[in-house]
Amino acid sequence: MNIFEKILTGSRIVGKILYSKAASKRMPIIANLLINNDCNIKCFYCFPQVFKREVKQFTTQELIELIDNFHDRGTEVMVLLGGEPLLRKDIGEIIRYVKSKKMICEVITNGYLVEQKINELKDLDSLCVSIDGDEESNDKNREKGSYLQALKAIRIAKEYGVNVRIHSVLTKYTYDSLGHLMELAKGLGVQVNYSQATIHTEHEALEMSDDELKKFWKKLIEFKKAGYPVGNSFKTLEYVLNWPYSYNDLVYNVNGVKEIHSYDYVSGKNGELPEMALKKSTDNESLKVCNEFKLQPCRRTQMSAYVDAEGSFYPCGVVWDKSGLSAREVGFDGAWNHLKSIECTSCANVSEVELNQLLNFNTTEIFGKAHYLIKNHLRTIFSKGSSV
Ligand SMILES: C[S@@+](CC[C@H](N)C(=O)[O-])C[C@H]1O[C@@H](n2cnc3c(N)ncnc32)[C@H](O)[C@@H]1O
Ligand code: SF4
Repeated sequence: MNIFEKILTGSRIVGKILYSKAASKRMPIIANLLINNDCNIKCFYCFPQVFKREVKQFTTQELIELIDNFHDRGTEVMVLLGGEPLLRKDIGEIIRYVKSKKMICEVITNGYLVEQKINELKDLDSLCVSIDGDEESNDKNREKGSYLQALKAIRIAKEYGVNVRIHSVLTKYTYDSLGHLMELAKGLGVQVNYSQATIHTEHEALEMSDDELKKFWKKLIEFKKAGYPVGNSFKTLEYVLNWPYSYNDLVYNVNGVKEIHSYDYVSGKNGELPEMALKKSTDNESLKVCNEFKLQPCRRTQMSAYVDAEGSFYPCGVVWDKSGLSAREVGFDGAWNHLKSIECTSCANVSEVELNQLLNFNTTEIFGKAHYLIKNHLRTIFSKGSSV
């Protein structure tokens, strides 16, 4: 995609967000598609629980039909993930198909197969490589050797002129390696987007207190202020820092009344998806105090969709349980329309807040993203062929 096509696509995205908001029209402008469910490594926190579930994998034709369905309903950004998406033999064909529809295409990968498949990845608008911390803590989160594989992948992708970013999951293990990751990203010339692990399984490394999380967001803000390449915007980080509820709370709108529900998951048995367990807060006093906090409405179910490797639709990685309906069973519109029934309206998951800044048409966020894309585009043009 050249710079003019990017500007055109950017304008279309802004136009669609504004239209969807003004006309209350549902449109999956951003789609996250899990194109497979198998993986070559095992990260303990992995939300699709890929290595425990057996699913009937999509055929190439099924994926093409899904991409067509999204495109026909207004999708502009298609994020391909998994499982490990590069394990698919047809990954090049899938990327080419998304690009032929003039959509922005990002692949999220653990990096292991980037060298082998680099020629298939050259047309991507973004390659997102997962690194959670320094070598030791990253490998505790993910798998021994995964840090070095991811690093190698970033270097190779950059050599080939692919636009790269890092996605990093915060757990107790990686809590103290923020400084390392910041220096690493700065040295590599790539941005890091942090996300808080969504909790679908019990694990000591996921047990972070609200105070610990707040301290982390503060530190991240300081790094960003100091000029480190933090992809999360100030607005998002400040929103998350000032969130007055617990980080495991979701705000629901039940018949116009705000309710706070803390959430947990009942683990799925025999590879089934977990079930979301919600507990309503009855603490009216703290609810009153929190009423002064201006909540950002979640636009996920209105403007985006998250599809798992069996074709089931979810709003995001937080609300991810067996309540989703599958397009294989109820058709694309049946699964997409079912998302309307989800009543949660705000959360403080940093990745979700970030996306919602965009979908709520927060101008700082939109111009920040546009600036980043243009800067990277120019950097890519000038560095093509040079080593990193
Ligand atoms: C599900 S993975 C699939 C792509 C690829 N296999 C990878 O690891 O990058 C997509 C992204 O979600 C992140 N992720 C997995 N489980 C998560 C969780 N429970 N909470 C937040 N992010 C998670 C991964 O670290 C990765 O960056
Ligand atoms: S590499 Fe990705 S898909 Fe595989 S287990 Fe880790 S997070 Fe899950």
